[in-house]
Amino acid sequence: MVGPDAANRVGPQLNGLIGRQMAGVEDFNYGPANAALGEDGSVWTEEALFEYLADPRAFVGGATRMTTRYPDEQFRWDVIAYLSQFNADGERTE
Ligand code: HEM
Repeated sequence: MVGPDAANRVGPQLNGLIGRQMAGVEDFNYGPANAALGEDGSVWTEEALFEYLADPRAFVGGATRMTTRYPDEQFRWDVIAYLSQFNADGERTE
């Protein structure tokens, strides 16, 4: 979810995702592989998301409950452009 009322569901809320620390949602219970991504302070960039969405399991390097792969490159850039409109408070900035 994104927006002012975004909450965690199956996956974490995605407000302010670009620039957000990987596995950075405090109250979301990440799997160990996803959680490990953020331990060195890595943040989500557009390029990282582009790679992640193609194959989340490969990107995190282990098991993850995010099993959906998005092979279509245009779809991935469109989703990233959409998500980049929402700041950390879920306000639409573009
Ligand atoms: C275009 C659609 C989607 C996008 C953009 C997306 C994006 C993301 C991102 C960026 C993360 C990592 C978050 C972080 O590190 O804070 C994540 C995690 C996750 N997503 Fe998705 N997701 C999508 C679809 C889905 C779907 C369809 C599911 C349902 C199976 C799902 C379930 C999850 C789960 C369970 C996690 C946590 C994984 C773990 O802890 O191992 N996502 N998602």
